[in-house]
Amino acid sequence: MEKTSKLSGFYKLSVDERRKIVSEFADLNKEEIESIGKNGSLPMQTADNMIENVIGTYELPLGIACNFLINNKDYLIPMVTEEPSVVAAASNSAKIIRESGGFITNSTRPVMIGQIQFSGIKNIAHSRQIILEHKQELLDYANEQDILVRFGGGAKELEIRIVTTQNFGDLLVVHLFVDCCDAMGANAVNTMCEVVSSRIKEYLKEGSVGFRIISNLATERLVRSRATIKKDLLGEDTIDRILEGYEFAYNDPYRASTHNKGIMNGIIAATLACGNDTRAIEAGAHSWASITGKYLPLTKYEKDKEGNLCISIEIPLALGIIGGATRVHPTAQANLKIIGAKTARELAEVFASLGLAQNFAALRAIATVGIQQGHMKLHARNLAMSAGAKGEEQIQKIVKQMIEEKNISMKRAEELMEKEKEHLCS
Ligand code: MEV
Repeated sequence: MEKTSKLSGFYKLSVDERRKIVSEFADLNKEEIESIGKNGSLPMQTADNMIENVIGTYELPLGIACNFLINNKDYLIPMVTEEPSVVAAASNSAKIIRESGGFITNSTRPVMIGQIQFSGIKNIAHSRQIILEHKQELLDYANEQDILVRFGGGAKELEIRIVTTQNFGDLLVVHLFVDCCDAMGANAVNTMCEVVSSRIKEYLKEGSVGFRIISNLATERLVRSRATIKKDLLGEDTIDRILEGYEFAYNDPYRASTHNKGIMNGIIAATLACGNDTRAIEAGAHSWASITGKYLPLTKYEKDKEGNLCISIEIPLALGIIGGATRVHPTAQANLKIIGAKTARELAEVFASLGLAQNFAALRAIATVGIQQGHMKLHARNLAMSAGAKGEEQIQKIVKQMIEEKNISMKRAEELMEKEKEHLCS
């Protein structure tokens, strides 16, 4: 049977039923499904080896975004987040986008930039030329430090930049371009920068080596995703309101910040689920958003000549499917298997599509019913459960009543739950 990520009513199932569907979709074995623990899954010894001063582990819900069709392939996307509505919104957008043909993506090679900074160089132009004369030797030397070359990656290029400072004059900065293949790449790039800096110092015979570290502004590791949503699925009025909201964000950094936050709601949740570095992704996204000198939305919204809504995203995403926490964290490994990306680029294209879906969901909601309606429904559900409601029927009954009364509060949830108990006892 053809596997599909189109799972209508997934949210209505029990946790066990959902786990069964996901493990069948991704061919998870018993160990892998157990590693997505219902009661914790990160062994204490692994946690203790991951960071310092460990006293325990910290849990968050792991949900599955459904319905994603990307380049004609079905994906289920694990997301870890504390925020209600996020997973539902992504799944809902993906469902609409799927009906219009799904997402289409592309990406650059996964190239990261390492920065090697020198100060106190008197003859900058001369020094620049000396470094460029030794370019191939320096690249070869960098490539001796890591196994990336074996996989077709490694240091490919270098360039020189001059950064003028207020108190330290002109700094000479070497940018080392490293194709990181399926790794996020920070370790490889930092190692290369450190060793190459000493070699450059030998050639220059003046100045001193300063910072040697990866840049999170990954302008050479860009990922793109787009979708065209048929006019009939949204209606002309909604499309125009969405476009107006987009232009609001394009012209106002206060709105653009929130617009981009919505995108990152999706991307960060999936990044965390897959054991990748969320801060690197966040730093890259926001610095890219302001690369023109103006802080802009990371997505674009347009109308085609038929009046359909064309949405797209371009974002740097430094993600890996090997190395780092992906190597040791059992749940991250299982989550990567659920996505089924064969390369880091494929993973990044899935995440970019998720970010786009998340953003579309937010804009559509704000342009129509407002964001609070969905939020309040989930909030009501959480309150009902906290008040002790059990089973879908009872939870729905209390949620419905609170929404109808426009009184969504813990107090009301408890009162309604008391009534339920009385009703059951009588
Ligand atoms: C909430 O977490 C995210 C939104 O504010 C995004 C947006 O306004 O576009 C809904």
